[in-house]
Amino acid sequence: GKRIGVLTSGGDCAGLNAVVRAVVHRAVQGYGMKVVGIEQGTAGLLARPVMVRELEPSLFTGDILRRGGTILGTTNKGNPFSYEMPDGQVLDRSEEIIEAYRELGLHALIGIGGDGSMAILRQLAEQGGLNFIGVPKTIDNDLGHTEVSVGYATAVDIATQALDQLQPTAASHSRVMVLEVMGRDAGHIALNAGVAGGADIILIPEVKYSLASIKRKIERIYAEGRNFSLVIVAEAVRDEEGRKVTETQASGAVTYGGIGEYISHRIAEETGAETRVTVLGHLQRGGVPSARDRIMGSTFGVHAVDLVAAGKFDRLVAWSGRHCFDVPLQEAIAGYRAVQPDSSVMLTARGLG
Ligand code: F6P
Repeated sequence: GKRIGVLTSGGDCAGLNAVVRAVVHRAVQGYGMKVVGIEQGTAGLLARPVMVRELEPSLFTGDILRRGGTILGTTNKGNPFSYEMPDGQVLDRSEEIIEAYRELGLHALIGIGGDGSMAILRQLAEQGGLNFIGVPKTIDNDLGHTEVSVGYATAVDIATQALDQLQPTAASHSRVMVLEVMGRDAGHIALNAGVAGGADIILIPEVKYSLASIKRKIERIYAEGRNFSLVIVAEAVRDEEGRKVTETQASGAVTYGGIGEYISHRIAEETGAETRVTVLGHLQRGGVPSARDRIMGSTFGVHAVDLVAAGKFDRLVAWSGRHCFDVPLQEAIAGYRAVQPDSSVMLTARGLG
């Protein structure tokens, strides 16, 4: 049978192991292929000896599907085209990866990654004539051409649970609770968790806000007889003037650890309310993958191997509506998806006030 490689690259998220497991099951049982797991992303192919292990269904004794992170390990450092050596020298090490792929006798490579990793892996595939298939993962859900990426659903669930846990303490202490969530440049996690977790105020980078309107909203909540409110803010949101709050302002203005801290501080100033901030951070990337991410991951893994078997390469596995399909990798890399102002969840959030 043919040998194929699988690697995870870039930041981890929940559901990566579901993809790896599905790749192995489909390849071995469906097509009699052998699967080589490459450790630490492309770093595993740069190391000598290479860091690889044979993956067989018998390795998966039941818990892999339930585990967060990636059993293969990953890295988001070390672009092989401009690799920074320990002595500071920057080298193009792409040929070393291509050589490793050849020496392993691989027929194809399945790479599970975000946009950054996909661009690098595609460039490697082009240069070395490698047969490459991409599987999209990112908690940020900002990849064009796929409605869903692995890891996103779990991140939304975790951010929702955080609001569930903040609500009783907010109510007990009559406080405004601010939750800062990840998302890189996009507001998908904040918007969706905000709706699911009943946030009163949702701040995302795609929509301008003003402290005056936040103040009005909080005052209206008090007027309605409720003593607390929940605010969710995406990490990429800036201050009212569009500046990053973590950067030292030339004016000597106060800088903050993050946007959550800034919003919390400003709400306290504007409304006199007692506020607290929680920065959810990497909790959003770990944990037990949700059912949705296990289903997405499994579906993507099976589809990726089917593409290999069909000899269709340079594709990204994707999801739309109720279907898994695939798109040319080049198109997918170019696409970035922000929250759309006319999306249903956006309209829902507005409809809820
Ligand atoms: O892209 C995933 C992500 O978790 C972003 O949401 C976040 O901004 C970033 O990665 C954090 O990166 P790191 O794990 O390197 O701190």
